[in-house]
Amino acid sequence: MPTLPADTGVSPLRPEPICPSAAIEEGGGGFRFAVDWHGTRAAAFVIRHLGRAHAYLNRCGHVPVELDWQPGEFFDSSRLYLVCATHGALYDPASGACLGGRCEGRGLVVLPIEERDGHIYLLKEN
Ligand code: FES
Repeated sequence: MPTLPADTGVSPLRPEPICPSAAIEEGGGGFRFAVDWHGTRAAAFVIRHLGRAHAYLNRCGHVPVELDWQPGEFFDSSRLYLVCATHGALYDPASGACLGGRCEGRGLVVLPIEERDGHIYLLKEN
């Protein structure tokens, strides 16, 4: 006899398309999009690092300004770190953690995503 899944208390997540997988390149150009964030529209972005897609609010941990130095360009010249164009804070592309500079331990806000069937989706609570 089939059983019902246990109630985990966690709302199911609804995937919302962000972009095709091909829109972001390893250590290179990212894709900008907007999300609902605490009742307002906020800038966000998705990048690819070591083969995996990662998404964050486009908001520096130092001052809440957008990071990209050209639209969609978030990596530094080494292509290993995300860099804030304003004062040069460095972030880990895989976690959004502050690695140095004026972010002083304040990392990026991680957005839940999944990548499947050639597309990247934002996972939104129902
Ligand atoms: S605003 Fe990003 S490092 Fe200052």
